Amino acid sequence: MGSLPAPPDDTVTTQALRAQDAAHLIHPLHSTQAQQNTRIWVQGQGATLTDSDGTEYIDGLSGLWNVLVGHGRRELADAARDQAATLAYVSGFAGSSNRPAIELAERLATLTYPSINRFFFTSGGGEATDSSVKMSRAYWTLRGRPQKTKVISRIEGYHGATLAAMSATGLSAYWPLFEPRVPGFLHIPSPYPYRYEAPSGISQGIAAANELEQAILREGADTVGMFLAEPVQGAGGVIVPQDAYCRRIRDICDPYEVLLVADEVITGFGRTGTLFALDHWGVEPDIVQFAKAITSGYVPLGGIGINDRIAATLDNDDRVWMHAYTYSAHPVACAVALRNLRIILEEDLPGQCATKGDHLLANLRTALGDHPHVGDIRGKGLMCGVELVADRSTKASFPAADRVGPRLLQETARRGLFSRVKGDIYVLAPAAVITEHQLDRAVEILADSIRTVLP
Ligand SMILES: Cc1ncc(COP(=O)(O)O)c(C=O)c1O
Repeated sequence: MGSLPAPPDDTVTTQALRAQDAAHLIHPLHSTQAQQNTRIWVQGQGATLTDSDGTEYIDGLSGLWNVLVGHGRRELADAARDQAATLAYVSGFAGSSNRPAIELAERLATLTYPSINRFFFTSGGGEATDSSVKMSRAYWTLRGRPQKTKVISRIEGYHGATLAAMSATGLSAYWPLFEPRVPGFLHIPSPYPYRYEAPSGISQGIAAANELEQAILREGADTVGMFLAEPVQGAGGVIVPQDAYCRRIRDICDPYEVLLVADEVITGFGRTGTLFALDHWGVEPDIVQFAKAITSGYVPLGGIGINDRIAATLDNDDRVWMHAYTYSAHPVACAVALRNLRIILEEDLPGQCATKGDHLLANLRTALGDHPHVGDIRGKGLMCGVELVADRSTKASFPAADRVGPRLLQETARRGLFSRVKGDIYVLAPAAVITEHQLDRAVEILADSIRTVLP
């Protein structure tokens, strides 16, 4: 890591910046109440962030699960500058291409699942979701099955906030102001080890996967195009499936001819300990979605990879796939992604995520395993969740009015750890370069904060 310049000597006070922010910005998940205490970040270095008051925090979620290589990587700034100076932008529409995009697609063919060798680039994860829905519909139409349009995804799943992606998202808090959702999107329960109740005599993982088969049969297999799932659910509260789940899902998709789409927007490029998360269970998807860690968030980039069968169907038809973004295959984003992937491989960040994730999980269990309100501590690689409950024996949640999650968030931030909660689940997904000392400090802060909020 190169040394970075000191933060600008800003004479504008935090208070004034907050007022300007409130006057002129609409934030993602905009909320007047949340905006009142906006932290204004001015610098990042490794696994830490510094705000406009000069206070340093551990960046517990590495941005939004994306800054895998850590903040302040001079190599990525240089890659962006060099490409912008050479060729900042050119159309990626059919008939026009650029070297970084070609090289990146070729690289991804070697890094993603063996049958996935063709790539379409977007600016982020939500556009990746829309792109795989449209790819699925195009694929089935080109194969003479235009009625296979429905999308099945999962309650607790997050796939983005564009209208189609929001309709696939199974977190109902995202819906109320924006109804009606796109028709033809359905949700099944998640394989939530802590909460899923399987019928007796059948294992949780198999039963949760069988929910997909039941939904396909209910809807009619000839109307279902794809099943969309995060291998490890992130925004839903870090839900790690049972070992049997993913294999069984693949085995259900095949006979009913339903495309399996893996949303690896968080899990892609190493966070769970392998480059792509379905590798943990020896399963290949038909389409993989990625974003976030492909550039470690330094510039926006996402996309989808499709398997050879889908690619051949697209290639062998004269009809045009009329789907496009101005910033598809953006040269600067692709150049940064290439440099970022080099770092991920050279520094073995998937391996670091595996080792550090085990350390984090073990420490969380030691520090919090006996706390009367810690119901579950779970994770895979550097992706962890701590679920707080009112009653451990019944797993009953706290009433939302108690604001346990938000109070905990405030308490951890006061002590120097910045992250997010989903309800009363505190999630952690720091940069892969986080030091052992910083990891241990994060656990200490979280444990102290939980004991303060829930003595
Ligand atoms: C699994 C998953 N899919 C899709 C998205 C949406 O990505 P974006 O916010 O870049 O549109 C996210 C964002 O957190 C995500 O976690």
